[in-house]
Amino acid sequence: MWHLASRVTQKLPAEMAHNIAVKALSLGIAPHISVPDMSVKFAGLHARNPLGLAAGFDKNAQAYDGAFGLGFGFVEVGTITPLAQPGNARPRVFRLPEDEAVINRYGFNGQGMKAAKARLKRRTPIDGQLLGVNIGANKVTQDKPSDYYKTAHHLCDVADYLTVNISSPNTPGLRDLQDADGMKATLQASFDGLKEATSTVPVFVKLAPDMSQTALAQSLEAACAFPIAGVILTNTTISRPSHLQSVHREEQGGLSGRPVAALSETALDHACKILAAHHAKISIISVGGIFDACDVMARLMRGADATQLYSSLSLKGVGLPSQIVTELAKMEAVSGASLAALQGCEDTMEKARKHARALYQEAIA
Ligand SMILES: Cc1cc2nc3c(=O)[nH]c(=O)nc-3n(C[C@H](O)[C@H](O)[C@H](O)COP(=O)(O)O)c2cc1C
Repeated sequence: MWHLASRVTQKLPAEMAHNIAVKALSLGIAPHISVPDMSVKFAGLHARNPLGLAAGFDKNAQAYDGAFGLGFGFVEVGTITPLAQPGNARPRVFRLPEDEAVINRYGFNGQGMKAAKARLKRRTPIDGQLLGVNIGANKVTQDKPSDYYKTAHHLCDVADYLTVNISSPNTPGLRDLQDADGMKATLQASFDGLKEATSTVPVFVKLAPDMSQTALAQSLEAACAFPIAGVILTNTTISRPSHLQSVHREEQGGLSGRPVAALSETALDHACKILAAHHAKISIISVGGIFDACDVMARLMRGADATQLYSSLSLKGVGLPSQIVTELAKMEAVSGASLAALQGCEDTMEKARKHARALYQEAIA
């Protein structure tokens, strides 16, 4: 039945389909699928498996329980801004099925931090089901870091971790916060907010895939001057690979799904090298273009602590997370090693891909 429902919503405009999916999950009328236990630990946290739902799906913290029911080990809600705002004019999200991609320019449409907190306060935490809260700034705010102070302060006590999102391409000026000065100001404000609330919640920083290796190094160096728990790599890309086929390929906004995979993997590879050179022991959550267990395993083998997806869920349907976790467990079984031992076992992305593909073929074929 859910397969059929997914196929029907695929025919609807993308934003309508998204709203229906959020509604179904928030009402608990989505499937509840059990998945093998594939526990991972990162940043002092415990997730029942290394696959998370990326930010942007559950912007107002309405559907996280339903998302856990699909098999995710962790769910990141948001981006949540201090005040409610409408976002950009519609249409503002497009499916590119030929390219297995999505372009969105939502622009942080949302109900604001008070509405989100009211919902999150009602949550009953379950061990192994981590809840991340992704925070951002309102479009009209001139002093962007001050919004991170507010959201960090207000939401820290309802989050297992916070993500400082400074990489959405759809809020003018936001990505400027990724350079060394912007990072310093934003993280200072975020940690001031946490200090005021006497919170020690782990903090992640989410970065764009469009940075050069040098820019990424500068950004990470600035971030590591603060007690961050880790980085999330990556958000959507503003680039447009020349091979895109869809009529929507020139739409403005952030491109995600299959075409961002290579950029996200390169960012992971670079970040692993940069952090190793600085002896910085922070966690990495890899996101961008993940479609199957082979993709997840490759990122873990290269050094990611966990992974997330969003676009593939909207393109492939609600059965995808449980399928990935089940296949991941099979890959672990045929490898003869534990998932923990496989994590970080390869020192290049290319080797990790090759290794993961061999395991995938053995386990799934
Ligand atoms: C429709 C849509 C909305 C998104 N909204 C947000 C957001 O509010 N905050 C955020 O940090 N990332 C947002 N993202 C980015 C995703 O969290 C993720 O980083 C990116 O899409 C790459 O992963 P994917 O290829 O699996 O989709 C959004 C992505 C999509 C497709």
